[in-house]
Amino acid sequence: MSVSIDKETIQKYDIAGPRYTSYPTAPVWSNQLTEQQYIEKLKNFGQTDKTLSLYIHIPFCQSMCSFCACNVIIRQLDPKYGDEYLNYLFREAEKVAGYIGRKAAVKQFHLGGGTPTFLNSDQLTQLYQKMEKLFDIDPEGEIAIEIDPRTIDEDKMKTLRSLGFNRVSMGIQDFEEKVQESVNRIQPIEKVKAFNNWCREMGFQSINFDLIYGLPHQTIQTFQNTVEEVIRLKPDRIALYSFAYLPWMKKHQTKIEDDHLPSNDDKLSIFLNARQQFLESGYQAIAMDHFALITDEMAKAYNDQRLYRNFMGYTVKPADEYIGLGVSSIGFVENTFVQNHKVLPEYYRQLDAGHLPVERGKILNEDDRIRQWTISSLMCHFEIDKARFTSQFHLAFDEYFKDEQEHIKHCIEDGLLTNQPNRLVVTELGRIFIRNICMGFDFYLRQKGAHTRFSKTV
Ligand SMILES: C[S@@+](CC[C@H](N)C(=O)[O-])C[C@H]1O[C@@H](n2cnc3c(N)ncnc32)[C@H](O)[C@@H]1O
Ligand code: SF4
Repeated sequence: MSVSIDKETIQKYDIAGPRYTSYPTAPVWSNQLTEQQYIEKLKNFGQTDKTLSLYIHIPFCQSMCSFCACNVIIRQLDPKYGDEYLNYLFREAEKVAGYIGRKAAVKQFHLGGGTPTFLNSDQLTQLYQKMEKLFDIDPEGEIAIEIDPRTIDEDKMKTLRSLGFNRVSMGIQDFEEKVQESVNRIQPIEKVKAFNNWCREMGFQSINFDLIYGLPHQTIQTFQNTVEEVIRLKPDRIALYSFAYLPWMKKHQTKIEDDHLPSNDDKLSIFLNARQQFLESGYQAIAMDHFALITDEMAKAYNDQRLYRNFMGYTVKPADEYIGLGVSSIGFVENTFVQNHKVLPEYYRQLDAGHLPVERGKILNEDDRIRQWTISSLMCHFEIDKARFTSQFHLAFDEYFKDEQEHIKHCIEDGLLTNQPNRLVVTELGRIFIRNICMGFDFYLRQKGAHTRFSKTV
């Protein structure tokens, strides 16, 4: 279904706001979470038979893409960096597994970055085998890796497949040469095609492509060409991210000149056009910014309201708790967000001193949990079922959110939400502005200056 949006709506809603990969969002976590508290959470988790999602962060990249908002460290391709990093990562993993005190079942294993394929085949093998010793990784679960096509060859793909990796996510961003040049990421399409073929031949179950709309020099026409190429390659899933432009936080983004960026109007049209292309080509729109082949597990999960959102975006909820290992990585255990140190020498220093490298986090209070459920329900299911809310929290939705009724009313008047019996349902237009709808339920955005930490919602 195509959506028409007038300029006034764009102007009204194109404000800075979170992407809600977590609630409360990372900027409001604090360094008051102690290592000891995290250890207690790990021990408590160890007393249960709960399952795990395990995220491992490999921070290195060979060059900096000027749009990048991830936690990355630029290094020349030399195995010494990976060797040193793995040495520390293994120490952290041993400690975490030690506190858990049992070989926890891992239903989802995700190697992210940075660029995990900065590691060579030997290092990837050592890493996976070490984790297999410490955790009970389910070979039938999701075993995924993020891949930069510029860093891969057939042998490395074979290694990954033989280790048990069954899903890959590849950074594509945009196929247009002028766009690639302007963001310092030259990536020939032939490389992507070869990679795609290897994945099919080697029997990887699921291939995801990352695209970004709103990059410099992108036009509706050029991005339409990119999407056509993507559709020809037929990945199972596509993440179509809005370019998060944060030059005040990510200094290398200042290399991108403002006037090379598409206007807000054009940026939205690029998204809507791409969306239409995917919908007409056998893909289903999944929540805010993902697409999946109608036959894919993610499409089924979305339709059955089993979709889940975490730091990697949307996933099919595979496990009870979430642990992150490596510099800057994030976990969520027993209602507590935990983030490791983001600066590599500090991450190393903490481990050298015998500590878990915890920097900050947040133990959720009751109100946080209620708002987390509400925002997650909007982001993942595009509705709030008030009866489900009541059965979950033993509270009446409208009473609990009496201060938010004004916001809900505005959303209904602007056509973003409809009021149905015991339900608030997000409209087609509201799906585009879902972050704005969620922002009205975010307690911490009421604090002065809170908005300035985020990218624009359109
Ligand atoms: C860790 S990278 C993926 C793996 C690998 N490093 C690569 O680039 O191919 C994760 C993804 O985040 C997305 N991303 C990075 N910076 C972004 C930004 N400023 N705005 C939106 N998406 C961004 C890109 O689509 C990228 O593929
Ligand atoms: S987009 Fe990927 S390859 Fe580029 S700098 Fe970011 S993490 Fe590294």
